Amino acid sequence: MSYAVRPLVLDEADFIASYFTDADDTFLRSLGVDPAKIMSHEEIWHSIARDLETPKDKKDRFYLVWELDGLGVGFSSIDEITVGKQANMHLHVAVSRERMKGHGAEFVKRSVPIYFDEFDLDVLYCQPYAFNTAPNRALQKAGFEYVETVEKVPGPLNFHQPVTRWKITREMMG
Ligand SMILES: CC(C)(COP(=O)(O)OP(=O)(O)OC[C@H]1O[C@@H](n2cnc3c(N)ncnc32)[C@H](O)[C@@H]1OP(=O)(O)O)[C@@H](O)C(=O)NCCC(=O)NCCS
Repeated sequence: MSYAVRPLVLDEADFIASYFTDADDTFLRSLGVDPAKIMSHEEIWHSIARDLETPKDKKDRFYLVWELDGLGVGFSSIDEITVGKQANMHLHVAVSRERMKGHGAEFVKRSVPIYFDEFDLDVLYCQPYAFNTAPNRALQKAGFEYVETVEKVPGPLNFHQPVTRWKITREMMG
């Protein structure tokens, strides 16, 4: 089993857009996402293309692709980026048959140092929906530390929900 993590290229923007636009409502709700707030395929594609061209300190989002034995099976991204300080991470094993096999935790472990180095971060946060067990478990396995549970609308695509805030610092990466 070989894992590779690398920055997304424009050719893969369709893969990310389709992951969200092809998803059924039940799946989206299980992630804490409000299906009514999902943008069109074209809007997602353009937002990815725009971010790829935007300098680091002005990016809305930065994406990493997760490859398993040479095949792209998922992706991670960060938003709320303050270069030299902190960012907020997202995680998705897009190919459903590859979930719950331990890959998510392995990919997160390999993504974190890339985010720290690329954006010179001190701390990286991740705040999944509290009732979505898989990311909460995967983050813990990847070395994140539980911070708190808060009720809020965590992002533009989400509904109001309890979110579990996790963090990892450069020192904690070991
Ligand atoms: C979140 C995600 C990236 C994690 O990747 P993964 O490869 O499935 O995760 P792992 O296999 O490394 O770990 C998942 C853990 O959650 C546990 N888990 C998942 N659902 C569970 C449930 N309903 N009850 C108990 N444990 C559960 C698994 O048993 C596993 O823990 P273990 O290894 O200690 O047994 C992946 O599941 C995914 O993409 N899900 C859909 C998108 C999503 O939810 N993204 C998060 C948005 S914040």
